[in-house]
Amino acid sequence: MTKFNLLQTFVLRPLQQGDIVSKFALGDKSKLPLKIFLQKDALTFHQNDIAKTYVLVDKSLSSPRVWGYITIICSEITIGESFDLDEECSRTCKYKTFPAVKIARLAIDKSLQGQGGGSQMVSWCVSVVKEKIMPVVGCRFLIVDAKSEVISFYEKLSFKRLNTENNNQSEHPLMFLDLHKI
Ligand SMILES: CC(C)(COP(=O)(O)OP(=O)(O)OC[C@H]1O[C@@H](n2cnc3c(N)ncnc32)[C@H](O)[C@@H]1OP(=O)(O)O)[C@@H](O)C(=O)NCCC(=O)NCCS
Repeated sequence: MTKFNLLQTFVLRPLQQGDIVSKFALGDKSKLPLKIFLQKDALTFHQNDIAKTYVLVDKSLSSPRVWGYITIICSEITIGESFDLDEECSRTCKYKTFPAVKIARLAIDKSLQGQGGGSQMVSWCVSVVKEKIMPVVGCRFLIVDAKSEVISFYEKLSFKRLNTENNNQSEHPLMFLDLHKI
């Protein structure tokens, strides 16, 4: 399928009152919670600083129909023995739990799936965390609880599955991206 350059056609900006979320479709009943979150809770969470949602809307049209969204929150990851920090850092830093930003929700309208929009939203998130958050707040990882069917989507974006027994058996394994390696 032809990939599109998201930022030529759409803008990714904070969710606002009046954004048209009613037409957002994922076409699969198991994805209903992602649609309901956008339609019912996302704006309240955004306005109350619980979870920030950024939406993909048409650049040229006056109608702010939402075609995709990404929701991000502060979080943490317990790495345990499954990850080696840089040598110097390992000597100094005895912690096993590290600060992270979590992709709490990510979805793109069914009509646009497979055209590069999802990966471009994740790349946008990486840039925001690296450029705006990491210089002022300690934060080393980007993490996500990946549904089993999207593990390979995140692997293509260099995320790794946390290698613990519990996580390997989980239906929604935690995956992480070390932002020092990007
Ligand atoms: C998962 C999702 C966000 C991916 O967005 P997208 O725009 O369709 O994906 P992209 O076009 O950017 O795909 C990038 C790569 O990942 C692959 N990919 C995309 N979705 C995939 C999936 N579900 N399973 C496996 N690989 C997938 C693509 O084939 C593509 O590979 P390529 O670069 O080799 O061609 C989107 O399909 C979606 O909204 N799905 C429903 C909601 C959902 O499951 N969200 C995930 C919550 S954790």
